[in-house]
Amino acid sequence: MYDSQRMQSVQTPIIPVVGELIRAHPGTISLGQGVAYYGPPPEAGPCIERFFADPQNHKYKLVQGIPELLEAIETKLAAENGIRIGPDQRIVVTAGANMGFVNAVLAITDPGDEIILNLPYYFNHEMAVTMADCRAVCVPSDENYQLQPDRIEKAITRRTRAVVTISPNNPSGAVYPENALRQVNDICRRHGVYHISDEAYEYFVYDGARHFSPGSIEGSSHHTISLYSLSKAYGFASWRIGWMVIPERLFEPIRKIQDTVLICAPVISQWAAVGAMQIGRSYCDEKLEETREIRTILLEELQTIRDFATVPRADGAFYVLLRVRTDMDPMDLVRRLVEEHRVAVIPGTTFGVRDQCLLRVAYGALRKDTAAEGIGRLVRGLRQVLFS
Ligand SMILES: Cc1ncc(COP(=O)(O)O)c(C=O)c1O
Repeated sequence: MYDSQRMQSVQTPIIPVVGELIRAHPGTISLGQGVAYYGPPPEAGPCIERFFADPQNHKYKLVQGIPELLEAIETKLAAENGIRIGPDQRIVVTAGANMGFVNAVLAITDPGDEIILNLPYYFNHEMAVTMADCRAVCVPSDENYQLQPDRIEKAITRRTRAVVTISPNNPSGAVYPENALRQVNDICRRHGVYHISDEAYEYFVYDGARHFSPGSIEGSSHHTISLYSLSKAYGFASWRIGWMVIPERLFEPIRKIQDTVLICAPVISQWAAVGAMQIGRSYCDEKLEETREIRTILLEELQTIRDFATVPRADGAFYVLLRVRTDMDPMDLVRRLVEEHRVAVIPGTTFGVRDQCLLRVAYGALRKDTAAEGIGRLVRGLRQVLFS
């Protein structure tokens, strides 16, 4: 029996391995999970009833999404993101932003093409690029995990098809300023490559940081692919709803891909999304109060170990990427934190960084008391593992 060489070259994410460690050590507090602590708003309920009220809803629907959700998304994009959908653009509802990314890569590449990812990368992006028989060209971010547009431009070759940015960022929590995103978008325009902008964490910004959508830049609609998700903002992770904004010419290829893989995003989830989007971002803003308090506790606690672990400014998402001064392998460090201190984080190697000891700390999935306990264990645990 022959098994795909291509799939063998796709990395196995470390997250299930850390999950296994957590299960083997009951009582472990996970600062590993990249999900919100809350579920969907109650406003989703009546729309789910509306779904059941019409027997036609159990049949396949349009690949690109139900008209009611497309309309809600169009209104939101204009009001919040400054993206006015013109005749040269389309919205396609996907089963989450990950699917939007796979759709984009398959639609714009041929085998052997290159996609530029910024380091640290989001591992599913790297995996999708490899699965498409393409090459992920990784460009390091600076010491604050910020974009380096000049290095991005230098990495462009005749095989480059896109530059990917994620802001607010997973795994670093960095929020890229408008001018940096404008520079990258302009580089993409000048070189005739796409700018894929993953905005799954658009509402998760702190300390006055502002989210900017490159899709709002005048003249960007022909080369910008914007990805969004309800997973984090509305606690919708298992409902699988996101969307992509694409240039019209990509609609046909993306329709072929999505028709083959999914046909349409689950219609019951699309209806739930219509309900959730009726209350809009205020739902997330309210929930974020607690996450903001946890972030403050985390940053204060991390100050106490700044002699050997630093966190560059991280004003977004619900992550910090701790830079630990040690020669220890980050996975060994993670293992010892779980085994000896019952707290889990994710090693930076998962995000493509191998020359430093980085640990991703996720603070969005827990309530305040548990998170505070986990943060205390992390700080004490790091000191003990590294110095005793
Ligand atoms: C940057 C980024 N994009 C996309 C996703 C996946 O989102 P979805 O659940 O909408 O597929 C995640 C999830 O962690 C993420 O961090």
